[in-house]
Amino acid sequence: MEVIIASDQDIVALKCADIIESQIKTLPDSVLGLATGSTPVGLYKELIKRHREHGLDFTGVRTFNLDEYIGIPANHPQSYRTFMNQNLFDPINIISENTYVPDGMGENPLDSGPLYEKKIKDTGGIDLQVLGVGTDGHIGFNEPTSSLQSKTRIKTLTPQTLEDNSRFFSEDEFQPKLAITMGIGTILESRRILMMATGESKASAVREMVEGSISAFFPATALQMHERVTVIVDEGAASKLELKGYYKFVGKLQDDLIKKHRPSDWISR
Ligand code: GLP
Repeated sequence: MEVIIASDQDIVALKCADIIESQIKTLPDSVLGLATGSTPVGLYKELIKRHREHGLDFTGVRTFNLDEYIGIPANHPQSYRTFMNQNLFDPINIISENTYVPDGMGENPLDSGPLYEKKIKDTGGIDLQVLGVGTDGHIGFNEPTSSLQSKTRIKTLTPQTLEDNSRFFSEDEFQPKLAITMGIGTILESRRILMMATGESKASAVREMVEGSISAFFPATALQMHERVTVIVDEGAASKLELKGYYKFVGKLQDDLIKKHRPSDWISR
């Protein structure tokens, strides 16, 4: 894993946007895997800015979101489809038919997972997957004990996840307890993974994910098995990393290398 420690969440967003911009400019028909939650909001704002001010072009890009709640329609204010439309898709020039979010209201929810897997395969697979991490170690909605080879399917959310995400729902509002999510196996099939985490509330999760033992009990540790993961964190989220000094040292050497080579040379299918 490549671990990049940025001074604050704004720099995390800028660094992630640099990676995505470089991906899109090198492969304009890139397939991006996208995440919801508070963490990527700054990244999406920066991508919108680069589209508006520098013409970053999304017309060839296809996107697959990680997950969606079951039991609320796509146009519900708390659906992940609504989140993506508002926070990224509507303000950029992506073709809306090229944006996919798992179907949380499918007639037979058990069919929706395999259909989503097929769609991902039909586009040629995900080039770059953006991820955040839950405080219980979930990626997407792959809660503790999810199979490390799992594919898109329905998951029941843990009490901790329900509590963490309750801030988005008003007290008398229905909060779904089920979600459809790409599996850990689906995520690991992406060609490159960009994991973002910010704030001290994520420090234990980041420590476990990067330095803990691989275990289905902490799904994010599965990323250790992928050959191309970049973890970008701020000082708060990095605060419990044992080898923090080492990652910073590696980062400095990397920056020197980047000055010599164009990062776009490293993007391929
Ligand atoms: C949700 C999403 C995850 C996200 C996580 C963290 O549960 N399903 O994809 O990574 O929350 O969210 P936040 O960024 O708000 O901390």
